[in-house]
Amino acid sequence: QTLEMGVEQIMKGGYSHFMIKEIHEQPDALIETMRGRILLQTARRGSLSSLKEVDRSSESLRVLDSVRDLSLDSIRALGSGMSSDFDQAPCIKLGGLEDYVDNIMRSRRLIFIACGTSYHACLAARQLVEELTCVPVTLELASDLLDRQAPLFRDDTCVFVSQSGETADTLNALKYAKHKGALCLGITNTVGSSISRETDCGVHVNAGVEIGVASTKAYTCQILVIVMIALKLSEDSISKMPRRQEILRDLLNLPSMMKKVLEKESLIKELAKELASENSLLAFGRGYNYATAMELALKVKELSYMHSEGILAGELKHGPLALIDETMPAVVVATRDSLREKMWSTIQQLLARKGRLVLLVSKDDDEIIGHFSGNKNVRLIEVDTVCDCLQPVLNIVPFQLLSYHLTILRGYNVDQPRNLAKSVTVE
Ligand code: G6P
Repeated sequence: QTLEMGVEQIMKGGYSHFMIKEIHEQPDALIETMRGRILLQTARRGSLSSLKEVDRSSESLRVLDSVRDLSLDSIRALGSGMSSDFDQAPCIKLGGLEDYVDNIMRSRRLIFIACGTSYHACLAARQLVEELTCVPVTLELASDLLDRQAPLFRDDTCVFVSQSGETADTLNALKYAKHKGALCLGITNTVGSSISRETDCGVHVNAGVEIGVASTKAYTCQILVIVMIALKLSEDSISKMPRRQEILRDLLNLPSMMKKVLEKESLIKELAKELASENSLLAFGRGYNYATAMELALKVKELSYMHSEGILAGELKHGPLALIDETMPAVVVATRDSLREKMWSTIQQLLARKGRLVLLVSKDDDEIIGHFSGNKNVRLIEVDTVCDCLQPVLNIVPFQLLSYHLTILRGYNVDQPRNLAKSVTVE
């Protein structure tokens, strides 16, 4: 018993729980996920054909493999120093996919299949996959796909996303998809897991072992993997090149930006104190950050046992608005992207019903910040702005911290919530 406790303490590495350790490991986990997969190449300015040649000659490729030896700051410098004129154009290498890219791009549909938090990772990255591949993308909760015995075809690619690689529903959906003849791609965090063995091709997440039942670092790293897959699949598209460059540059900035979000922990702890005795917490988001709202609500309910609901902000007027009064706390994810104006109008509608708001906003959003500074009924959490499709990776972090601190304050077991298991191996 004492020995076991001792080992557990060592594994927690100075943190009081696995969950908080895993939350703080995320900047490093993101680096591990990118390691060896982002190649820097020197291409002649403005010459797309030479970019392609360089792509194939290994000597001019510098693999970003020594990334562990670089400090977060130097990775950041590398990111910000990258020019958009392909001077130092990086490209993506995903060993487990290289032979399948053409097949995947010829698919009629890309169908992402997962459960729980892994499903939310798919939700966060869906729009980018659609945008870069121009292939229709649908999402399926594994259990629902099986319940419906949904039609799948030989020209579909099914993408199975699972931290453990052992979730029964996801594994059964994989068997079903294989039987239907679809191409099956796995994204798991567990080398040698059933899903990684039984899929045709795949990408390991490499986030490191996750012990807390509620998934944290696997979530942010899964989003990153799907983003990298989208970048890989669109490598041949010249029209998508500027967008790919923008994303690649910000990928390298992500670990250090994540570190800055983690520094907000004491502010989040104060917020948790204000919310700890509530019965309910609503969360609104749209676009890339609908996933953030959904994942926030899942974290809060599964850990702190407080009722919580993630709501697509576009649906506000179709029901949820009736829940809003001066007693109802609501989180609104309103960071800067093309939907920021719509989120600003959501905020105003919630305020008109006297909602108690917690707003996640971009640090440089003077309009929102100026409007609410000094307002005691509105709490602001400010984060850096990053490329829209990567913003959910940063945005979930304050809410992982919030659900952790809410749970501690409410006196529950944050690493092992009641009735739940890390890996659900039964239907
Ligand atoms: C369980 C865990 C969740 C996880 C889900 C899917 O419900 O408690 O944290 O998201 O399973 O697990 P997977 O291993 O397939 O990602």
